[in-house]
Amino acid sequence: MFRFESWLGNLYMSHFKAIILAAGRGTRMKSELPKVLHKVCGKPVLEYILDITKDLRSLKTYVVVGYGSKSVRDAVGDGVEFVQQDQLLGTADAVNRCSPYLKNYQGTVLVLCGDTPLLSKDIVAALLRKHHSSKAAGTVLTANINNPQGYGRIVRDGKGRFLSIREQKDCSATEDKIKEINVGVYCFKSKNLFEALKKVKLNPGKKEFYLTDVVELLLALGKNFETFRTPDETGAFGINTREDLAQAQAIIRRRILNKHMLSGVTVVDPLTTFIEAGVVIGRDTIIHPMTVIHTDVRIGRNCSIGPMAHVRPGTRISDGVEIGNFAEVSRTSIGRGVFQKHFSFLGDAVIGRGVNIGAGVVTANFDGVNKNKTFIGPQAFIGSDAILVAPNKIGARAMVGAGSVVAKGKNIPAGMVAVGVPARVIKKVGKI
Ligand code: UD1
Ligand code: MG
Repeated sequence: MFRFESWLGNLYMSHFKAIILAAGRGTRMKSELPKVLHKVCGKPVLEYILDITKDLRSLKTYVVVGYGSKSVRDAVGDGVEFVQQDQLLGTADAVNRCSPYLKNYQGTVLVLCGDTPLLSKDIVAALLRKHHSSKAAGTVLTANINNPQGYGRIVRDGKGRFLSIREQKDCSATEDKIKEINVGVYCFKSKNLFEALKKVKLNPGKKEFYLTDVVELLLALGKNFETFRTPDETGAFGINTREDLAQAQAIIRRRILNKHMLSGVTVVDPLTTFIEAGVVIGRDTIIHPMTVIHTDVRIGRNCSIGPMAHVRPGTRISDGVEIGNFAEVSRTSIGRGVFQKHFSFLGDAVIGRGVNIGAGVVTANFDGVNKNKTFIGPQAFIGSDAILVAPNKIGARAMVGAGSVVAKGKNIPAGMVAVGVPARVIKKVGKI
């Protein structure tokens, strides 16, 4: 049913441009890799934020880059505008780098940090709605958390009116106890934002320009500055250390598993199952314990994966496939009803429907320089411990004997039996 309010809501929502702050080094990560490129469930931290701006249909997204900017640009690719911040002079300076791009823009600017992968798009949408309906000059997302260490505090007067955001370093003893914190997500009227930014002064303690100073500057001009408190504090969690990364990973991993279970996948033991972001699994598939499924994997319906299976990126598995214990599959397409039940490796392979992969089969796909392909036709039978040195082709219904080595470049014709080291064709299938 068409609902006017939701249509209006969407219309409002799509009227914003986004700035994502991602120039910081992330010193506490103790890493050469920029913080925003560290992965959570197979996906760079920054991508979680980019997904939000995409889902909410940002008119344009600016990503402020500085430390490791080339690698961030390469990882993100097209679809956004990169803004360079060579000297990391603080969050106000980072946003201000975008002013040349936005000087003629009158609408809403949404500012997000690139290091908060748990943030939900629904909360950001609610923040945008509040900002638009209150017509404020700015609205900041806040959260009540038990341990506010390291976050800017939301300072209010006796009547609860919002006064300012105080960084922890600058807090008085009373302010230090405040549990309502600045998540680091804001909406602004573009004009108000950039006017106020011109007036931000260097913070003497940290020698940085603070974006949070904009609050007091706008309030002093008699503008309205709103807060929106998130009902979901987990979304506020920012990554600063590798411990934080692991904590975020644990939460997102559980979210991913729940999503699959809700859509009809059995996860026998969620505690020992790792499924990264960007995996599609069909109904009635069972994922057995201690299984790892990486990003960019599709698995059909009625499959059985694991226990202790390792399914790597670029893998496509059709319906009714069984991948058993200690089986690894990488960049491989597997046809319907294939059995690959024990101790085997399929890499860069295309496996036809109904193929049986015996215990210990290995596609030797890497010759030290190139990754080569293996093609196995429908209904072929690959005996235990066979090694298929790629590139090669096993024809439909062909049989490769146990322990055989199919030499590099060798093709086994359809319907034939090949055995030995190196494998040679000895007869037609069916005359064993
Ligand atoms: C900031 C907020 C704080 C809030 C917290 C939420 C300020 C002054 N403080 O503090 O109130 O509670 O986020 O996580 O804004 N960045 C740049 N260029 C810079 C500096 C930072 O792009 O020159 C980026 C960082 O990469 C990061 C984001 O801005 O993504 C936030 O910077 P960070 O140094 O982590 O600020 P906090 O001290 O966490
Ligand atoms: Mg931070």
